[in-house]
Amino acid sequence: MLRTHTCGELRLSDSGKNVTLSGWLARSRDLGGMTFIDLRDRYGITQLVFNMDENADLCSQARKLGREFVLQVSGEVRERSAKNLNIPTGEIELRVTALQVLNPSKTPPFTIEEDTDGGDDLRMKYRYLDLRRNSVRSNLEMRHRLAGSIRKYLDAQQFIEVETPVLIKSTPEGARDFIVPSRMNPGEFYALPQSPQTFKQILMVAGFDRYYQVVKCFRDEDLRADRQPEFTQIDCELSFITQEDILNIFEGLVRQLFREVKNLELGDFPRMTYAEAMERFGSDKPDTRFGMEFCNLVSETRSCGFSIFEAAEFVGGIVAPGCAEYTRKQLDELTDWVKRPQIGATGLVYIRWNPDGSLKSSVDKFFSPEQQQAFMEKAGGKPGDLMLILAGGDTKTRKALNELRLEMGNRLGLRPKDQFSPLWVVDFPLLEWDEESQRYHAMHHPFTSPKPEDVHLIDENPGKVRANAYDLVINGVEIGGGSIRIHNRDLQKQMFTLLGFSDEEAQNQFGFLMNAFEYGAPPHGGIALGFDRLCSIFGGADSIRDFIAFPKNNSGRDMMIDAPSPVNPAQLVELGIRIQGA
Ligand code: AMO
Repeated sequence: MLRTHTCGELRLSDSGKNVTLSGWLARSRDLGGMTFIDLRDRYGITQLVFNMDENADLCSQARKLGREFVLQVSGEVRERSAKNLNIPTGEIELRVTALQVLNPSKTPPFTIEEDTDGGDDLRMKYRYLDLRRNSVRSNLEMRHRLAGSIRKYLDAQQFIEVETPVLIKSTPEGARDFIVPSRMNPGEFYALPQSPQTFKQILMVAGFDRYYQVVKCFRDEDLRADRQPEFTQIDCELSFITQEDILNIFEGLVRQLFREVKNLELGDFPRMTYAEAMERFGSDKPDTRFGMEFCNLVSETRSCGFSIFEAAEFVGGIVAPGCAEYTRKQLDELTDWVKRPQIGATGLVYIRWNPDGSLKSSVDKFFSPEQQQAFMEKAGGKPGDLMLILAGGDTKTRKALNELRLEMGNRLGLRPKDQFSPLWVVDFPLLEWDEESQRYHAMHHPFTSPKPEDVHLIDENPGKVRANAYDLVINGVEIGGGSIRIHNRDLQKQMFTLLGFSDEEAQNQFGFLMNAFEYGAPPHGGIALGFDRLCSIFGGADSIRDFIAFPKNNSGRDMMIDAPSPVNPAQLVELGIRIQGA
């Protein structure tokens, strides 16, 4: 090997040893008679010393080395006079007696330090340099530890990992597919899987009983901090199982991960129905690290004289603790904030409950101090607090109030990254109405089973049918989702009809699954955890990008390999594809 030790390994107890290290030049300092170099590898940093008095040639050679040169050095480990107790190797240094440049380096386009000066795109273009940074590398090391712990847990629970295909059939449900042309079948296309959903169900029909896969999924949707076009799921399916069993098994998994990777014992995993989550937080993935729950003021404001409240489907408030002293300027700024198109509120009403007990609001004309105090009390407020109220259409206003709640949570420091609040959201509606296409869509996916007690509603009131579907939410992030599946051909067919599929379309697209249901399909259900999101929660970050070795940017572009890119026209001819206008 080109080294006897790594750059993170040597300690005071190694003093006097002759060793060889290899690594990258992270930093060098020239102090006249002495030159110091920090040599970096995956394991850490070791300080190298070159002394003019001891070896002038070597020292002047060292002075000429640039950042990121790959070096091999040999010498003696010595105790440092000025120790750096912030790093594990900080008590020693290597007095270098032999130096070899294994490979020079151009000057990197940004500094490879914790606080780098490189912008996002530049760092993505030179991802191999970005990956040399401690924080990015340690994120991937954590990802590796999580994956190991997940596999260990699932293996112990009799799950077996099965790979499912990546070239599959395009289906209209869910997000847009990425499609792949087939040369051997001109005019026909494969699709990349949005998830292995139907395959894992087929594996249950095949009797595999418990399946998992750490699997890449592909969705052509608009990107956000927590969305990538290709991402990884911990995809699982189980037979002869109830929803309760699944929640318990995966609660156990998440507990083990926090214990093993973060050395943390999680508290309760409360359960909340979808209806309750929407009522209390206006979101199906509430951040339960803090309160500030919605207070419904509809009945109190029905005939108050304030036309905006009277006309509103929903009037709701949240109480921001200790914010009664917000200035006019701060309130104006908050009003502008809620009026931004992304939030979409038309205005913001406030009530200040001053510490001296007096009340002051932007709707003093319509509500007496007693009424205002009653609103505050209903929401659990106290003197010193500020109530913020939004009014308007039900869905839109709840959504905006949810955003305002999260924003106030951020501003008040109520969402600490090192606190974890898991939650199961259960009893999702089976269907959601889509205004644009004027038809129902499956809220989870078309294979989710209705709750047996709600099946009778399917024909008369489909929107009211609840599903055996659940999401795992941590700190307001949807970490995973799953359901108990339909395993009966007739019910599956009925579901497709409800979703607007003709019999022929259903047979054409999902005939294989419905046929399989006729050959002894066991009751089954499952879940998929978004692995990248799980990693980012563990790492206390909002973006999943830093937990993916080679992520895409917001335009879905890989800046390093420059993809997507045009292909050779001959390739297109071979595939029978003509680009319009070409
Ligand atoms: P679902 O669509 O809810 O369920 O996906 C499961 C989890 O995957 C993560 N996720 C994403 N992560 C990063 N980028 C994306 N674009 C992205 N999209 C989804 C989320 C989500 O909770 N087959 C079903 C699961 C099942 O029913 O068993 C499915 O895919 O964390």
